[in-house]
Amino acid sequence: MTQLNEIPQPITDLIRQRFSCRSYLEQPISAEKRQQLKDFIGALPNGPSGSHPSFFLVAADREDSHALKDLGTYGFIRGATGFIIGTLDAGEKNLEDYGYQMEQIILAATRLGLGTCWLGGSFTRSSFARKINAADDALIPAVTSIGEIANVTEARNGLLRRQINADQRLPWEQLFFDQTFSAPLTRQAAGDYAIPLEMLRLGPSASNKQPWRVLKYGSNWHFFLQRSKGYRESSLTRFLGVADIQRLDLGIAMCHFELTARELGLPGKWFSAEPVIPKADELTEYTVSWAG
Ligand SMILES: Cc1cc2nc3c(=O)[nH]c(=O)nc-3n(C[C@H](O)[C@H](O)[C@H](O)COP(=O)(O)O)c2cc1C
Repeated sequence: MTQLNEIPQPITDLIRQRFSCRSYLEQPISAEKRQQLKDFIGALPNGPSGSHPSFFLVAADREDSHALKDLGTYGFIRGATGFIIGTLDAGEKNLEDYGYQMEQIILAATRLGLGTCWLGGSFTRSSFARKINAADDALIPAVTSIGEIANVTEARNGLLRRQINADQRLPWEQLFFDQTFSAPLTRQAAGDYAIPLEMLRLGPSASNKQPWRVLKYGSNWHFFLQRSKGYRESSLTRFLGVADIQRLDLGIAMCHFELTARELGLPGKWFSAEPVIPKADELTEYTVSWAG
């Protein structure tokens, strides 16, 4: 399977098409699609920060839907025929890399017409870890359910989606900033980057919290994580083996932004150098920058 930037279907279409699918057909994913996904996974390079999480496409078991509840996920996943399960690699930004790479796999699955849903929970040393024969110390920060979509309209309008306002995104002014966090970025000032930012905004995030903030400074785009209260990694969540999940959201944002920028022919690369500017508040943390 060709990688995402080489495909005829625009990345912007795939990003718009994707949604969190929680109800699947019983029909298993065809051998051909499974092979294409496995090839895609096998060809993934390192993540933008240099770590290389490992991902596996595995078949679902009858008990998985119920097991998910005990592992801290929300929303009932009905009939998933497969899961994508990954383990973290070492590295300072390994969770962002995991989010970035898993999202690429999700977009590849979307291209194959498959439904997916990110699931965050305490998977480390769970039945999901056993499916991939993970070592005892392997960390699994999230998994993705996958399968043929049961009913696109129904899936999109499901009760859970309405409860958590899944189709809603924060307004542009609350997400993107111009030089300081007190000045919202206009679409006009974003120029060619208005579309990559819009595609970032459509990305999935845990509980739809949308913790991504992007600040334009000259030709650089600085990415920040604005943590939601109660999501900060506590000793309890660490004890339960739950990852610092909002860092995955930042990786997903990086994926949507970069793939769209590349498709539009906008050159750029990631670098790490925190700008010296006052942060929005004490819950705001620098992640990475894009030199455009
Ligand atoms: C890291 C992460 C963890 C998530 N965990 C769950 C989960 O446990 N259960 C669930 O039903 N959805 C989960 N979601 C899906 C979000 O609820 C969903 O992305 C968000 O509500 C936006 O909806 P959309 O993906 O349909 O655009 C998760 C998403 C992310 C990115």
